[in-house]
Amino acid sequence: MSGADDLLFDPSLIPASCSESLGSDLELRPLRASDGDRGHLELLTVLTVAPKLSSQSYADTFNHLRSCPNTYFTIVIIVSCGSIIIERKFVRSSGLVGHIEDIAVSKSMQGRKLGLKIINTLEEVGRGQGVYKIILDCSKENIPFYEKCGFKHKEYEMVRYIEAAPSGSSKPSSPAKL
Ligand SMILES: CC(C)(COP(=O)(O)OP(=O)(O)OC[C@H]1O[C@@H](n2cnc3c(N)ncnc32)[C@H](O)[C@@H]1OP(=O)(O)O)[C@@H](O)C(=O)NCCC(=O)NCCS
Repeated sequence: MSGADDLLFDPSLIPASCSESLGSDLELRPLRASDGDRGHLELLTVLTVAPKLSSQSYADTFNHLRSCPNTYFTIVIIVSCGSIIIERKFVRSSGLVGHIEDIAVSKSMQGRKLGLKIINTLEEVGRGQGVYKIILDCSKENIPFYEKCGFKHKEYEMVRYIEAAPSGSSKPSSPAKL
């Protein structure tokens, strides 16, 4: 697979102005199916644990994201990447919320405005999809970076990690009602 066939989403959804703001040596594009072999997971280790996946697992994950129309938009600029996931709500007249996730710039390229350009581009992609707001979680240390990108602090993040169920245990029964 090559060309536009192996891209996560239609590249025309990235406004030309976003690519033009980069130097001519830097390509901004949707994630490619073959990016697993080009260091995508190594790049994500600046962010969190991102162990190597088999080619099959990377392809399965990529194909799963691509099979959800208008939902997953992961962009790449050489050694940096980021995603916006579009969520349809019942509130706000079935409004759309953009969730920015997994912003990573490789250590050697940090401080060269690539993070800012990734965020600006994801914002434009979200705007093009019709989101009414964009939200993200970040560490306290990264608050100044996101403020420079035009975000402001609101609310708090909560998390609960789910341990894998011991093998052989039965699945919890589904609730009868909401
Ligand atoms: C955070 C990260 C994405 C920033 O990307 P970057 O390309 O290095 O940042 P940029 O060069 O685009 O910075 C844009 C502005 O934010 C500032 N900035 C960036 N990171 C900052 C930080 N941690 N604290 C204070 N200011 C910061 C820059 O100085 C720059 O300011 P300026 O316009 O006044 O010069 C990058 O450092 C990274 O990948 N870190 C590791 C992974 C991570 O923490 N990801 C975010 C998960 S929420």
